[in-house]
Amino acid sequence: MHSFRYHDGSLHCEGVNLERAAEKYGTPLYVYSAGTILDHYRRLDAALSEIDHLICYAVKANSNRAILSLLSREGAGFDIVSGGELFRVLAAGGDPRSCTFAGVGKSQEEIEYALEQQVLSFNVESEAELAYIDRIARSKGVQAPIALRINPDVDAGTHRYVSTGRSENKFGIALDYVAKVYERAAQMPNIAIRGVQMHIGSQITEAAPFAEAITKITPLILRLRERHPLEFLNVGGGIGIVYESSFASGSGDWWSEKDRVRATTILPLTIHDYVAAISPPLRAIGLRVLLEPGRLLVGNAGVLLTRVRYIKRTENKKFVIVDAGMNDLIRPALYQSYHEIVPVREAQDSAREPVDVVGPVCESGDFFAQDRELPEMKEGDLAALMSAGAYGFVMASNYNSRPLPAEALVSGEKSALIRERQTFDDLVRGERDAVF
Ligand code: LLP
Repeated sequence: MHSFRYHDGSLHCEGVNLERAAEKYGTPLYVYSAGTILDHYRRLDAALSEIDHLICYAVKANSNRAILSLLSREGAGFDIVSGGELFRVLAAGGDPRSCTFAGVGKSQEEIEYALEQQVLSFNVESEAELAYIDRIARSKGVQAPIALRINPDVDAGTHRYVSTGRSENKFGIALDYVAKVYERAAQMPNIAIRGVQMHIGSQITEAAPFAEAITKITPLILRLRERHPLEFLNVGGGIGIVYESSFASGSGDWWSEKDRVRATTILPLTIHDYVAAISPPLRAIGLRVLLEPGRLLVGNAGVLLTRVRYIKRTENKKFVIVDAGMNDLIRPALYQSYHEIVPVREAQDSAREPVDVVGPVCESGDFFAQDRELPEMKEGDLAALMSAGAYGFVMASNYNSRPLPAEALVSGEKSALIRERQTFDDLVRGERDAVF
């Protein structure tokens, strides 16, 4: 479900009119709904109530500290992939002891920092990394809690850039080899085996691959349990969300039974389906379960607001040139991702025309939609790029020396600026003239 609706002809986020938000904070502007984030978190938490679990929000999806603090107050743990993300969790008041630290290339400084902060566990991706963590833990006179990441070699059917559970991906340790690495880990004096981890990919829109992966590693886990003190199984994240027609589906509440029939044509996966599929194999294993959802919690909770700068007509095309660019939201350019585009002022009639919605960046790849049928848009109009709450701002860059956009969080009738728009001074901060 999400909280973006038209009221009196204007798109609102919860009780906040997005036209007012754009005037107040300027555009391009990311706007997030706190209510939607909390709703998604609570639904997942409730669906898992029969299972001993901890939801570790994947910080990489949206790392603004206001969002981290929102989730931390709900009791979430965090899935972090860098020292920077750990720093953010701490800055947001999160508990480092409920952080799992993932990533294939952790540095010495990051490992030391995570040990000092006593993270819940390191998700270890290779033997070399295991030996490295052992050495650093020894030098600090502590034990490092670890889970080895198993690569179950299942095809989650996602974009090749976000698929991680196949044997050709760089992630994890092969299923038929990992037992040996656990034996090695058990011999290492400064390693404390705590669990098993896996993550098969992102934006997965079927429940079956999740269940298949867990079922596939079950015999191994049962064997490992006899030899090692396993406390948890971390099943990763990857639950897909609705990108297409999220808005057109009326209430947008595709998690509810009411909208299921409609939703199944868009997205066969609901929280209920996901939990129903993974619960039987998880019960058979009987360990505490950790989850690392990112997109599910924040994806549909955010939009990127942008204003139309110019309309440009060529012989074959109509271009709607907006003030947001690929530097602000790179997903269409990088993954050919679809983001629904809706006018902030509700269209008065049902007329549609095919347009390209493009940004100001000097690249042909800088588009948000091509030949898409949209209501007529004019100069100065506002549009919302939907479902931009995950992997939106966090992947933004200063390309073309464009200052990073601002971010605002909405709760009920109120909005707060949770990240200032960058200034030109910010662009050159830290740069120096070369002095030879
Ligand atoms: N755990 C691990 C180990 C991961 O690598 C990821 C995402 C997650 C959890 C969270 O996955 P989620 O629940 O959000 O699907 N930039 C891409 C997505 C990259 C995902 C990377 N790993 C995009 O914009 O679609």
